[in-house]
Amino acid sequence: MNVRIVGTGSAVPKLRVTNDDLSRLMDTSDEWIKSRTGIESRHLAVEETTTGMAAEAAGKALQEAGMTAEELELIVAATATPDRFLPNLACEVQSALGAKNAVAFDVSAACSGFLFSMNTADMYLKNGFCKNALIIGAETLSKIMDWNDRSTCVLFGDGAGAAVLRAEETDSTEAQPEGILSTVLGTDGARGMVLRCDNRPVNNPYVQNDTALSYVSMNGQEVYKFAVKTVPKVIEAAVEKAGLAVDKIDLFLLHQANYRIIEAVAKRLHQPMEKFPTNLQEYGNISAASVPILLDNVKNHGMIKKGGKIVLAGFGAGLTWGASVLRW
Ligand code: ACO
Repeated sequence: MNVRIVGTGSAVPKLRVTNDDLSRLMDTSDEWIKSRTGIESRHLAVEETTTGMAAEAAGKALQEAGMTAEELELIVAATATPDRFLPNLACEVQSALGAKNAVAFDVSAACSGFLFSMNTADMYLKNGFCKNALIIGAETLSKIMDWNDRSTCVLFGDGAGAAVLRAEETDSTEAQPEGILSTVLGTDGARGMVLRCDNRPVNNPYVQNDTALSYVSMNGQEVYKFAVKTVPKVIEAAVEKAGLAVDKIDLFLLHQANYRIIEAVAKRLHQPMEKFPTNLQEYGNISAASVPILLDNVKNHGMIKKGGKIVLAGFGAGLTWGASVLRW
């Protein structure tokens, strides 16, 4: 059974906020942000919602796949910033699309979320539970940022990306399988507190609690060290599992946290930066949405050729990480 991506889509808020715009709101500068991260701007939600952006991205992916929403059988959404505790984002998107025949649920794995949702859907498809799936990474991170904390708020943005997966019987004469060839995932909860955003505290008739809302906090240097050490290893493991060599990979689409992290990963893999397209300059870090938005951008620029081999890789809070190898 081959499981292939047959459509992609993305959506970001209209408002583009440059580093200079932020420097008028807080003590920061374009020079500081750009030199440490590569980020030049981010898009921030004003009227947009996580569900609205996810549904827009999903609609485009369905259109490219040549499918109606009613044909969808599974929706798996990854987000850390849904519009509500209940219902989940996937059910909200199901409603927005009119995908009344799908089963819809969320997975939570922060910036690795799209890899975890793709792997979940891949397993459902390969086991024959369904024949197609919509996978989504969508975030409105701006609502969980402390806008008085310049060390975190300048890094993140809002947006959504989606892809439609389809299961196809493997042609026994096919020389090389297509679609998702391998996935490797990992987590380390013991190091989770280096990047966190706490939920509401206990509050009931037996506990009086007026703790203020929590926002994202991060030990940037620990996250940096984790990323540059773990991401090359998980990519190598996924490539080996696919029976390929790293040199044979055409494109590496990495979570867009920081240009310096991506450069360090490229160096450790002995691969040229031309194989690592980026869009963090425009969008910043959009957690679960960053990999599917980059995939959509790169595909729309004609950078993925039929038969091309690509790696998708994510890493983030949890700690979580993952990589998948696909033949397009
Ligand atoms: N503008 C100006 N100065 C700033 C800003 C800002 N926005 N933010 C922090 N500073 C100051 C600090 O106050 C500090 O000043 P001080 O020396 O006077 O105390 C100085 O800059 C250095 O601060 P550091 O936090 O040590 O800066 P660092 O060089 O480590 O860069 C960064 C921070 C970019 C976050 C870096 O640690 C990094 O790249 N980490 C990787 C983590 C990452 O990218 N996370 C993204 C989210 S996680 C994920 O997606 C997996």
